[in-house]
Amino acid sequence: MRIDILTLFPEMFTSPFNESIIKRAKNKGLVEIYIHNIRDFSNDKHKRVDDYPYGGEPGMVMMIEPIANAIEWLRSQRSYDEIIFLTPDGETFSQSMANKLSLLDNIILLCGHYKGVDQRVRDIYVTKEISIGEYVLSGGELPAMVLVDAVIRLIPGAIGDAQSALTDSFQDGLLSHPVYTRPENFRGHKIPEILKSGNHQAIEKWNLEKAIEKTQKRKNNLKNK
Ligand code: ADE
Repeated sequence: MRIDILTLFPEMFTSPFNESIIKRAKNKGLVEIYIHNIRDFSNDKHKRVDDYPYGGEPGMVMMIEPIANAIEWLRSQRSYDEIIFLTPDGETFSQSMANKLSLLDNIILLCGHYKGVDQRVRDIYVTKEISIGEYVLSGGELPAMVLVDAVIRLIPGAIGDAQSALTDSFQDGLLSHPVYTRPENFRGHKIPEILKSGNHQAIEKWNLEKAIEKTQKRKNNLKNK
């Protein structure tokens, strides 16, 4: 899978993309991630990327030309399955969206800033608009990182235990069951006896019951909000 990210703040991606699972997936050749500075695609002599909105509202709007130049340059080299714009008014990101995106070959992620991007970018180029939740962040960079992390861990081979991405919370509509490690007794707080029983069938049943319990509790909390 190849992911091209268009941003005004490329440095923001350095550390999150060079640690842990994303680093491993890149090193194993499972994913290629390219970060492009939108400013590099400006034709303006001052490398301007934003301008005042028509209509006189306050705030700045990202201009179409640099973004169009970047997208067209990428598209001249390969075809893209999706051009995704991260925006608080997009469709809310979910595990099932991550699953679908993890099957694609080439995607572009466009990170917005300021008051947004010129609507014509969305009309002409963008194929999908995604929000990571109902709150407004300063830009699309953190949402892009969230999306990339959720997608990459699903690519076979990205995480050590091949099963573990499939048993994540949400994959079967259930939240994950509680997990424990040593010590067995922490200041009087002991691990559940069943986990020491060696009876795998009983443990699996217990895990499933706990996952259902947790999911039900979360649902009730949401209902009572
Ligand atoms: N840009 C700003 N806030 C955002 C959000 N919640 N999701 C996606 N992109 C955003």
